[in-house]
Amino acid sequence: MSKQGDYQEEYQRSLKDPEGFWAEQAASLPWYRAPTEILRSDADGVASWFADGEMNTAYMALDHHVEAGRGDQLALIYDSPVTQQQAKYTYLALRDAVATFAGLLRAQGVSKGDRVVIYMPMVPEAVIAMLAVARLGAIHSVVFGGFAANELALRIDDAQPKVLVTASCGIEVDRVIPYKPLVDKALELCSEQPASCIVLQRPECQAELTSGRDLDWAQVIASAEPADCVPVRATDPLYILYTSGTTGKPKGVVRDNGGHAVALCYSMRTVYDMAPGEVFWAASDVGWVVGHSYIVYAPLLAGCTTVLYEGKPVRTPDAAAFWRVVEEHQVKALFAAPTAFRAIRKEDPEAAQLKQHNLDHLQYIFVAGERLDPSTYDWLREHSHKPVIDHWWQTETGWAICANLMGLDPKPSKAGSSSLPVPGYDVRILDDSGLELPAGEQGAIALRLPLPPGCLSTVWGNHERFLAGYLSSYPGHYVSGDGGYRDEEGYVFIMGRTDDVINVAGHRLSTGEMEEILASHGAVAECAVIGVDDQLKGQLPLGLVILKDGAAIEPEALEQELVARIREDIGAIACFQRALVVPRLPKTRSGKILRKLLRQVANGEDYTVPSTIDDPASVDEVAAQLKDLRNE
Ligand code: COA
Ligand code: AMP
Repeated sequence: MSKQGDYQEEYQRSLKDPEGFWAEQAASLPWYRAPTEILRSDADGVASWFADGEMNTAYMALDHHVEAGRGDQLALIYDSPVTQQQAKYTYLALRDAVATFAGLLRAQGVSKGDRVVIYMPMVPEAVIAMLAVARLGAIHSVVFGGFAANELALRIDDAQPKVLVTASCGIEVDRVIPYKPLVDKALELCSEQPASCIVLQRPECQAELTSGRDLDWAQVIASAEPADCVPVRATDPLYILYTSGTTGKPKGVVRDNGGHAVALCYSMRTVYDMAPGEVFWAASDVGWVVGHSYIVYAPLLAGCTTVLYEGKPVRTPDAAAFWRVVEEHQVKALFAAPTAFRAIRKEDPEAAQLKQHNLDHLQYIFVAGERLDPSTYDWLREHSHKPVIDHWWQTETGWAICANLMGLDPKPSKAGSSSLPVPGYDVRILDDSGLELPAGEQGAIALRLPLPPGCLSTVWGNHERFLAGYLSSYPGHYVSGDGGYRDEEGYVFIMGRTDDVINVAGHRLSTGEMEEILASHGAVAECAVIGVDDQLKGQLPLGLVILKDGAAIEPEALEQELVARIREDIGAIACFQRALVVPRLPKTRSGKILRKLLRQVANGEDYTVPSTIDDPASVDEVAAQLKDLRNE
C-alpha cells in the first residue's frame, strides 16, 4: 500500500547515490547559500554533508515560516498539568521571543561558536533559549533537569560555556525541585566558570541570585534588543548533547547544522507523515535527543505545531493525561517511550480513560527509546485502534535508523521489530570478526559508512574518542552498541545493548559510571552494576559489591549509603535502589567480571558458564543470592 513511493526503490537509491538523493532532499530547504558540495568523506570515513552550504537553523525553523506567510500559525503549545498552565506561541511570537533572547545572549558576549549550557525544566523558555543560541550561530548543550550537580558540572567543564541558562525550579509530580542550589553546587565543582547565569524565576520557587554572576531573565530581557540570524556553515556545530558511554565521563555528541536540518525535514515527511500545520507531540524532555529532534527542531523546521508537555503519563493527574492532551490539541502523531504506556496500562488496564476521549485526530503512535515489548504493543494497538510504530535510533544518529515509513510506503508491523532500515542507513549485522551474518542470526548492529546527514560528526573535544568508540571495531562501519538480527524479510529486531549502557524508563545510563561511584565507597573492594529486567521501567540497575576485608558495615547500611551516593551524584532518575553484598563475582581467568553472565543469571535466563571462567562455584553462589532477590 504505497503512499508516495516505493520503499525498496527509495532505500536502494539512497545507498547507491547518496549525493544525488540528499541533494534532492536539501533543495527544499531555505539556505542562504545552497550547497554545491554534497558529501565529503575523510580518510576515516567520517562524512561532512553540504560543506559549502550557508544557513541558520533558527532561521529555517522560524523566520522562514513567518516570511512564507505562516506567522499566525501555532508553532508551540505549552501544556503543563503540574502548574495548571497553558500557553500558545504563533510562529511570529516564537520568532520574536527567540530574537529578543538572542539579543540578550549577545549582550552577554555570546557569539558564533560559543557554548551555552541550558539546564531547564520543560517550559517554553527552554525552547526559546535553544533557538536563540542557534540564531547566534552559537552551540547549545542542554542538560536534562533530572541530573544532579555532579553530572551538570561534568558537562560544564567539558563544554566550557560562556553563559549558563537555568530556571529557579523544576516541578515533579509531588514536589518542587529547586535548581539553583544544584547549579551553585555544580559551579563550585567546576574548574571552568561561565561569565554569567541567566535565571528564569518561576512562581513556585524564587532562586537566590549571586551578585555579579546571576541575572534575572525577566529583568534583563526587558532591555534586550532583538538579534538577527547569524549565517553558519552547514558543518558548523548546532549543539552538543552528552550521552552515557561505558565510562564515567559522558560523551558530547556533536550535531552539525545543515545535515541535521535536512535529515529532520526528511524524517518528518517520510517517517512520521507530517505536513505543515499539523500537530506533533513528542512526550519526552528537551534534555534528551528525542526532545532536541522532535519537540524542538523537526516539527518547527517542517512548519508543524509542536506540543511541549510538562507532566507525566500518570499522576498528573491520572492515566488519562496523554489522551486529554491528544484530544485537546488535536495531535496527529504521538511519540513516547514504551515505559510511558506501561505506566498508563498499569493504572488503567482496560483503557477506560482512553475511551472517554475523542482521538479522531490521532493517526499514529510512535515509540522509541527502549525495546517495545510485544505485550505493551498489543495492548496499545488493541485499545487505541491506531498504528503503533516502533522505531530504533540513538542520541548519536539524532533520527531513526529503522522504522516503518508512514509517509512513504507503510508496511505491516511485526511485534518486537522496529521494521526496516530508513533510507540513508546501510544496516549490517556482523559477527565478531566483522563478517555479515545471515537472516535470523544475532550479532552486532553496525552501519556502513558514510552515515547519512544528521548523525554525529565527532565527540566534543575528543575526536579520538569518536574514532575509537564508534569507528574502530569494524573498519568502514559505525558500531551502534546494540545487538540484534534481521529476519528473512529484512525486518530488524533490536535485542539490547552489548556494552555497559542500560535503559531505565527510556533514559540511557552508564553502569560503568555507577560502578565508579560505588567503588569510591571506603567499604567496597570491588563491584559490578548490571541492568535487570523491570516490568515498568524496562531495566533497573542492580549493584553487586564485595566488601573490603575488615569493613565493619552491615549490608543494609551499606546499601542505603550506596543508594544515596548514586542519587546524589547522578540523580534520582538513575533509579538505583538495590546493592547486594556478595562474597565473590564470577570472573574470567584474566580477571574480567562476567557481566553478561550476571545479567542472565539475575534475569532468570538460561546461561552457559564460559570455559574461561576462573572459579565456576562463584556463579552458583551469586545465582542463589539473585534468586532470593527475584523472589522478594
Ligand atoms: N527533574 C528532577 N527529578 C526528576 C526528573 C526531572 N526532570 N525526572 C524524574 N525525576 C525523578 C523523579 O521524581 C523520581 O524521583 P523519586 O525517586 O524521588 O521518586 C526519579 O527521578 C525517577 O523518575 P521516573 O523514572 O520518572 O520515575 P517515576 O516513578 O516518577 O515515573 C514513569 C515513572 C514511567 C511515569 C516515568 O518514568 C516516565 O514518564 N517515563 C517515560 C520517560 C520518557 O519519556 N523517556 C523518554 C526519553 S526519550
Ligand atoms: P538514546 O541515545 O538515549 O536515545 O538511547 C539509545 C539506545 O536506546 C539504543 O542504542 C537502544 O539500546 C535503545 N533503543 C532506542 N530505541 C529503541 C527501540 N525502538 N528498540 C529497542 N531499543 C531501542
